[in-house]
Amino acid sequence: MKPCGDPWTASGMKDYNKPHEAPVRAFLTRIVKDPKNHAKFLNMLSMLEHMGSRKIMLSQMNKPEEMDQDTLQHLAEEARHAYFFKRHAERINGGEMKGWVDENTMTRVPALMYFGRMDAGISKQVGNDAAYGWVSLIIELRACWLYGIYNEVVEEADVHLPLKGLLAEEDHHLAEMFEMCGENTDQLQGLSQFETDLFVKLWTAIEAAYPQSLDNAKAA
Ligand SMILES: [Fe+2]
Ligand SMILES: [Fe+2]
Repeated sequence: MKPCGDPWTASGMKDYNKPHEAPVRAFLTRIVKDPKNHAKFLNMLSMLEHMGSRKIMLSQMNKPEEMDQDTLQHLAEEARHAYFFKRHAERINGGEMKGWVDENTMTRVPALMYFGRMDAGISKQVGNDAAYGWVSLIIELRACWLYGIYNEVVEEADVHLPLKGLLAEEDHHLAEMFEMCGENTDQLQGLSQFETDLFVKLWTAIEAAYPQSLDNAKAA
């Protein structure tokens, strides 16, 4: 059965996230002007994208008979997003940022926790067989929401970070995953709220890692 409507209306995601939009935009507007910290933020996104692609690979390992072109394309695109963010992190940093360690990755541990808890929580609720579609659907909502704001911020600040192609790919993944499992609207809303709580925890850690005072000190 095909879901009706679009993933935004069906999930209510933008509504629960309305209060977070302005603070996230304000944070991004500050950090894009600070190359060293911006690079660490980008490297964190690179790590999360890498975890996403790795997760797709692992979730399909025990069902090789199901691997299809769409899943392989999804996996390859998430791996390329990890590469994209790493490449721009190093460019903006003006030097190599090898791997993902505390020194070069903003809120490395909270980001790992965010991903791990989301994956475990969703998988527990929907079961392992449906986990790929559901975890992906919830992640794509977050990716489109965050990268959409991020793209507006970099364009406004005139910071070179070509997010448009990546955003179009996330949008395509979102539509695909919504088609796969979006008809269960109650579950979609519940899981989206669950993820939003985890995202707020991660974002609180991110803001603590780059507080306003740090920015003010730099300007002084
Ligand atoms: Fe991605
Ligand atoms: Fe994606």
